[in-house]
Amino acid sequence: MVTQDSSAKTYAPDEAFTAQAVGQSTLFDDAEADREGFWATQARERISWSTDFDQTLDWSNAPFARWFVGGELNVSYNCVDRHVEAGNGERVAIHFEGDQGDTRTITYADLQQEVSKTANALAELGVGKGDRVAIYMPMIPETVFTMLACARLGAPHSVVFGGFAADALRTRVIDAEAKVVVTTDGQWRRGKPAPLKATVDEALAVTEGKEDADSVTNVLIVKRTDSPVDWVEGRDVWWHEFVDGQSAEHTPEPMDSEHPLFILYTSGTTGKPKGILHTSGGYLVQNAYANAVVHDVHPETDVYWCTADVGWVTGHSYLVYGPLANGATQVVYEGTPDTPHQGRWWEIVQKYGVSILYTAPTAIRTFMKWGDDIPAKYDLSSIRVLGSVGEPINPEAWRWFRDHIGAGKAPIVDTWWQTETGGIMISPLPGVTTLEPGSAQRPIPGIKAEILDDEGQRLTDPGAVGYLVLTEPWPGMLRTIWGDDERYKDTYWSRFGPEFYFAGDGARYDEDGNIWVLGRVDDVMNVSGHRLSTAEIESALVSHPRVAEAAVVGATDEMTGQAVCAFVILRSEGADAGGAEGEELIQELRSHVGKEIGPIAKPRQVMIVPELPKTRSGKIMRRLLKDVAENREVGDVSTLADSSVMNLIQDGMGKPAS
Ligand code: PRX
Repeated sequence: MVTQDSSAKTYAPDEAFTAQAVGQSTLFDDAEADREGFWATQARERISWSTDFDQTLDWSNAPFARWFVGGELNVSYNCVDRHVEAGNGERVAIHFEGDQGDTRTITYADLQQEVSKTANALAELGVGKGDRVAIYMPMIPETVFTMLACARLGAPHSVVFGGFAADALRTRVIDAEAKVVVTTDGQWRRGKPAPLKATVDEALAVTEGKEDADSVTNVLIVKRTDSPVDWVEGRDVWWHEFVDGQSAEHTPEPMDSEHPLFILYTSGTTGKPKGILHTSGGYLVQNAYANAVVHDVHPETDVYWCTADVGWVTGHSYLVYGPLANGATQVVYEGTPDTPHQGRWWEIVQKYGVSILYTAPTAIRTFMKWGDDIPAKYDLSSIRVLGSVGEPINPEAWRWFRDHIGAGKAPIVDTWWQTETGGIMISPLPGVTTLEPGSAQRPIPGIKAEILDDEGQRLTDPGAVGYLVLTEPWPGMLRTIWGDDERYKDTYWSRFGPEFYFAGDGARYDEDGNIWVLGRVDDVMNVSGHRLSTAEIESALVSHPRVAEAAVVGATDEMTGQAVCAFVILRSEGADAGGAEGEELIQELRSHVGKEIGPIAKPRQVMIVPELPKTRSGKIMRRLLKDVAENREVGDVSTLADSSVMNLIQDGMGKPAS
């Protein structure tokens, strides 16, 4: 392969790469000629159906889509059993690497047995088709077994990120009316055990002033850290006592193509998280397809590693369902990048011969900061494809990634998508696209996107900034918000009328027709690729007895993309927040948010202010607060009810805590 100049503006695909690539340029022609026919072909070629579908798309009740209508399949069968039946049972499905250095090699045959046992166990706990199961677990093989066991039974799972706090878990369990919660005694974090089951106990406890999570009949607990647990008799069940002894045979039952596969909660513009609902056939088709053509997965030879946590959509689509549907061999890593040393990831790449690495810009920027000499110590020559997801990747980080991890030649796929889209939507194809650092570039074959201005007119001029919309339904799209069809229509299908899915991102084209995604245009922040809602953090802050009012903004941050900055007005009692007491209170408020939502939501800064800037109708002008948080000259204040407020804020703010 030819190494190109690292300061080049664009990077054409290498001929040898193109020759072997899964995704060829003909895909664009095929999809352009007949979009639905294209998806029908993907569905039949990549997925095994127990009953073929008779209609590719039913959009007659838009925006409620039905894909592959009449088709029946079992998602778990597609991800597990069929590979064994095809004679690939001895292929490694998962190379598990524990935080403590413990490892486990799980072949597809092993996976079939483990998933079957788990499905039998859940069934014995009364979980049947349509029942919901909450999964609150670290990155261990049992988490994957549980997800696939749920899929096998047709019981939608709701994975709740293990970093969320008890209240966040409680509201998610209540909203989905989960019957069983699967968890662990504890989780390894930076080499130390941290309790996890205790948080489940807190979330499920009858607590004054809080709604009860009384739908839960059992909690199934994997022993991971040997952390002490408080036992709830009649409810709690140990995994090793209950699952391990189950029969390793279980027959997957075919499900309707539109049968719910999972609910995944994500932050919206209000305080209440949205339960994004994905169904079976369309979701699996899009992810098997995108994983194959975007990551260029060759299951016989590649070792694939997606570093995302299963608590987020990337873990669902590109750690569990996409790669397993394709019969890939992958790495699952439990720990953090710097435990026990800052070369851990590169050691893992070297150890397993990882050839495809899919990660987030915030991780790449962290590695840049730690220094080039760290990856240089390891043999990374197995790497041939790199991927990025979660936020825009700045060209500097892109080039560093290619040069220092990809030996100056691995193509990078910058993939734009969302929890709601279910799968990759905009991305280069590594053997086809001439890469342009910083841009996710074009919709992949089968997907349609546009940029609209405020009035809903299509923008085509390079540089003009507008709103990213999707103009045609796609197989992996969310079907609704769990229990709230109206919110689904209002949030995604009303801003520009019912024929445009409004993604909530700003975007522009460049001179070459590439799409540059510029970040959220609503009150959603993106911190280290994790979505957080300003409203959710504000309500956590005002739940503190000292806080009267709060406004939260996402300020640009070199490392994490955005950082949470909070402005709070204190209640009058004991309102003097100057000096040491103020500093203490600020730290207390930061921890309070961590306790209410989870450590990822902790504000970087809390600023105690006398007033908040509001319009005459009482709306907080976040734009102005963002100016303050980003140390900029404050913009136009003419629409403020009281234009002197910004002076008060700036004068009285004092030194922000960091
Ligand atoms: O703002 C976009 C940003 O992440 C948002 C979706 O967040 P979430 O649902 O948590 O899913 C993240 C993983 C798919 C989008 O609205 N985003 C994601 N990928 C990119 C991105 N922004 C720019 N470039 C990307 N490649």
